[in-house]
Amino acid sequence: MTLKTIVETAELEAFRLALFSAGKKLAFVPTMGALHDGHISLVKQARQTADAVIVSIFVNPTQFGPGEDFNRYPRTLTEDAKKLAEAGCDAVFLPNIATIYPEGFQTWVRNEPLENQLCGASRPGHFRGVLTVVLKLFNLVRPELALFGKKDYQQWRLIEKMAADLNVPLKVIGSETVREPDGLAMSSRNRYLKPEERAMAVAISRGLKAAVEKYKAGETNAATLTGIVAKEMASQPAIKVEYLTICDQMSLAPVGESVKGPAVILLAAQLGTLRLIDNMELNPAG
Ligand code: PAF
Repeated sequence: MTLKTIVETAELEAFRLALFSAGKKLAFVPTMGALHDGHISLVKQARQTADAVIVSIFVNPTQFGPGEDFNRYPRTLTEDAKKLAEAGCDAVFLPNIATIYPEGFQTWVRNEPLENQLCGASRPGHFRGVLTVVLKLFNLVRPELALFGKKDYQQWRLIEKMAADLNVPLKVIGSETVREPDGLAMSSRNRYLKPEERAMAVAISRGLKAAVEKYKAGETNAATLTGIVAKEMASQPAIKVEYLTICDQMSLAPVGESVKGPAVILLAAQLGTLRLIDNMELNPAG
């Protein structure tokens, strides 16, 4: 299959209209590129649910804070295009900065209760940038469904809520985190881990997995469950935990003393120059 490269919005509109008039269903995977197997699994899942798949690659400046890695964020377009073609993607949309942020741009999407907690607490403005660019991409691409990885759990929930609150006519799907064989959640930034940091980073998923196992064995005390992860983190003093908490899966409100319904255990940590995040769901049996 040949991958169509789309830059201009007129080309995008022609691509979309051709599908629409043939009654075909379009699925969309927004990305910032530097694609790994997690992104590719979203493309493959999209392929199974829709007639055509489009991926966007846009390194969105407004979701990076001052001092964050916007300038050195990996840009690997040639490799990305090859992976997309192999995965059966129909088109890649590479919008120009002027398409997304034209001169005089001043309207932003926010979710004040949710955007400043968890990752938003240490990355002010991050989710304002994410929600704004994602809504713009949704409006340009106008797909029937859009897929996001659950690794960015807060991002996925915020986007789902935005689509519901603003009547965006599409279905937002969260897809399971894809992991390296040793458990590390895949991320475009993992390539920056030094070999010794890469070896340490696996403690994060090991700790989360141990907590999930304990929960499955009947433990519902939130402090006991986070304590299991904290103990694993303490074995790797180079990993500085930023937050470690158990939240309700939908509202992302902390669960309090005990886990009563569908919850998620979330962690963010600093390792060297890199900020790592991961999470695992705690789903009541049955
Ligand atoms: O998860 C990402 O890659 C980005 O935050 C997204 C959703 C493409 C918005 O820029």
